[in-house]
Amino acid sequence: MEQIPQEGRKGPSHREVPRFVGLLLAMVLMNVLLYLCLDWFFISPRSSAVDPSSCPHGYFRMGHMTNCSPWLTCEQLRTEVRQLKRVGEGAVKRVFLSEWKERKVALSRLTRLEMRDDFLHGLQMLKSLQSKHVVTLLGYCEEDNTILTEYHPLGSLSNLEETLNLSKYQHVNTWQHRLQLAMDYVGILSYLHQSPLGTRVMCDSSDLPKTLSQYLLTSNLSIVANDLDALPLVNHSSGQLVKCGHRQLHGEFVAPEQLWPYREDMPFQEELLPSYDEKVDIWKIPDVSSFLLGHVEGSDMVRFHLFDIHQACKSRIPTERPTAQDVLDTYREVLHSLRDTMMSQTREML
Ligand SMILES: Nc1ncnc2c1ncn2[C@@H]1O[C@H](COP(=O)(O)OP(=O)(O)O)[C@@H](O)[C@H]1O
Ligand SMILES: *[C@@H]1O[C@H](CO)[C@@H](O)[C@H](O)[C@H]1NC(C)=O
Ligand SMILES: *[C@@H]1O[C@H](CO)[C@@H](O)[C@H](O)[C@H]1NC(C)=O
Ligand SMILES: *[C@@H]1O[C@H](CO)[C@@H](O)[C@H](O)[C@H]1NC(C)=O
Ligand SMILES: [Mg+2]
Repeated sequence: MEQIPQEGRKGPSHREVPRFVGLLLAMVLMNVLLYLCLDWFFISPRSSAVDPSSCPHGYFRMGHMTNCSPWLTCEQLRTEVRQLKRVGEGAVKRVFLSEWKERKVALSRLTRLEMRDDFLHGLQMLKSLQSKHVVTLLGYCEEDNTILTEYHPLGSLSNLEETLNLSKYQHVNTWQHRLQLAMDYVGILSYLHQSPLGTRVMCDSSDLPKTLSQYLLTSNLSIVANDLDALPLVNHSSGQLVKCGHRQLHGEFVAPEQLWPYREDMPFQEELLPSYDEKVDIWKIPDVSSFLLGHVEGSDMVRFHLFDIHQACKSRIPTERPTAQDVLDTYREVLHSLRDTMMSQTREML
């Protein structure tokens, strides 16, 4: 009995074949067209601005991955990730370029057990602050003291000059792109100061090189925060303030309220140091931005237009300094007005 329907379904007769193939080809063509259109209208614009926040908490997406994957577990980190070479090291972590499913990733390992609290704090911050401002977390294993993040081949902001000096990047080594970097940087501070976890201070920034080493330059030349190991909470409504680190700070880079306020011959005691708020980050903006602006044609013109807002950042009275959002708004205005000026100048030349 069962043979009969099978006989009936026997392949098409010889005369039917061309029609059948024609229909099949038409269907394939339509599918390809549909696919291309969909790709054009929906996929391309989205993948050009892949935002990790578009994955739910506990999931990630990077590069050209279409779906969100759950953060890798200890087991997966141990078996699926192959450590290749060391690419960086700080006081807390040693970072290795590694491979996971033929993708490049960054594996961070705790360097010294004494730093484990900072390491775990940083992990907690990474987990909670996933957004376009923060490096994408791919997984972690508290038991092994490892964290897996997206790998950024251009490394930290410390390499900015060398990178933009490469012939490959000469075309983006302009005041416009550099001002855009400064806007990314201030945008990150603004995010941290109004984060889902309240007002967070970027404490691991006691000098310029150290500050630069906490941020990564992405391949599309934007900035993400990477090292969140020291992000204490300020709560203005409960009067909770912070102290960055346990040691005496020196120099002009840190805010004046971070310095030892007593006579030099009085021995430093952490308890005697007054605490402060997120305005210490604002004090440092002019120095970091000036580094980001560099010394290309137009850098000094931009510096000139940022003079007033930067002077306000350097107010010795913290409450008189602008917020990161104020600074960002001013940067944006300056970028737009300078672009308009350049455009009308170009139009006049034509
Ligand atoms: N995802 C990454 N891609 C490329 N380089 C990285 C990455 N993460 C860290 N690095 C490099 O490792 C350095 C140290 O990393 P960081 O997280 O700041 O460690 P620490 O907490 O010890 O200061 C960074 O300054 C950077 O040069
Ligand atoms: C660069 O890539 C990041 C994600 O990696 C994205 O958030 C950002 O919008 C991109 N920037 C540009 C200018 O395409
Ligand atoms: C940039 O490149 C030039 C040569 O192309 C070199 O002389 C100069 O030192 C480089 N600067 C930096 C900061 O690497
Ligand atoms: C800040 O303190 C207030 C009052 O004590 C409290 O209600 C609020 O939850 C705190 N905010 C954060 C982010 O901890
Ligand atoms: Mg660091």
